[in-house]
Amino acid sequence: MSTPHKTAATAVPLHPLLAGRWSPRGLDPRHELTDEQVTALLEAARWAPSASNTQPWRFAVTHRGTPEHAAVLDALAGGNRIWAHAASTLVVVAAETHTSEGKERPWAVYDTGQAVAHLSVQAEVEGLAVHQMGGFDSGRIAALLPDGVIPLVVLAIGRRDETAELPEVLAGREAAARDRLPLEALQVPLGVPTAV
Ligand SMILES: Cc1cc2nc3c(=O)[nH]c(=O)nc-3n(C[C@H](O)[C@H](O)[C@H](O)COP(=O)(O)O)c2cc1C
Repeated sequence: MSTPHKTAATAVPLHPLLAGRWSPRGLDPRHELTDEQVTALLEAARWAPSASNTQPWRFAVTHRGTPEHAAVLDALAGGNRIWAHAASTLVVVAAETHTSEGKERPWAVYDTGQAVAHLSVQAEVEGLAVHQMGGFDSGRIAALLPDGVIPLVVLAIGRRDETAELPEVLAGREAAARDRLPLEALQVPLGVPTAV
C-alpha cells in the first residue's frame, strides 16, 4: 500500500510496513477480502498483548453487500458514509470493559487499541488499507452488539483505489502529505524531586 507522498518522513528509517501505512478514503468498491485475509487480521489482533492477558477486544466483521455491512454503514457519520460505503469490510471494534462479575477492566480500551494496531500492520502485509473511524452513532452501533461490550471504533478495510471519486475536500486530504508533531513534542520531563 506504500504511496510515496504518504510515506512518513522519519528521523531514522522505519520498517516500510510502519512508514507506509496511512488511512485512505479512496477504496475499490469491487474488491473483497478473502477468508484467509480476514483470519490473518483477526490472528494479528488475537496475539496482541493485554493486561493480565485479559484480551478484552471483540470484533464484528461485516462484508459489503450484506445487511450487517449496510447497518454499520448507516450508523456512520455522514462524512464517513460518503466514502466508507466502498469498504470491502467494515469491522466494529468493541471492548469488554467489565468482567462478567461486573469488575472493571481498567486497561480494556488501551488493550483494544493495541489489538487494532497489530491488525493494521498485518493489513499492510496483506496489501490492504485500514481506515479507523470514531465518527459513528454509538447508540446505534451498540444496539447491534451483544450485551457487555462497548463500541470503540469502526474499521473500513479494503483495497486503496487512487481513481476513486471523492468530494473535493476529501480529495484534498487524500492528496496531502501526512504530518505529525515533532519528535520532541512527544517527550515530557519527569518531575523527580531533587534531593535536599
Ligand atoms: C480513534 C480514531 C478515530 C478516527 N476517526 C476518524 C473518522 O471518524 N473519520 C475519518 O475520516 N478518519 C478518522 N480517523 C483517522 C485519522 O484521522 C487518521 O488516522 C489521522 O489523521 C492520521 O492519518 P494517517 O492514519 O493517514 O497517518 C480516526 C483515527 C482513529 C485512530
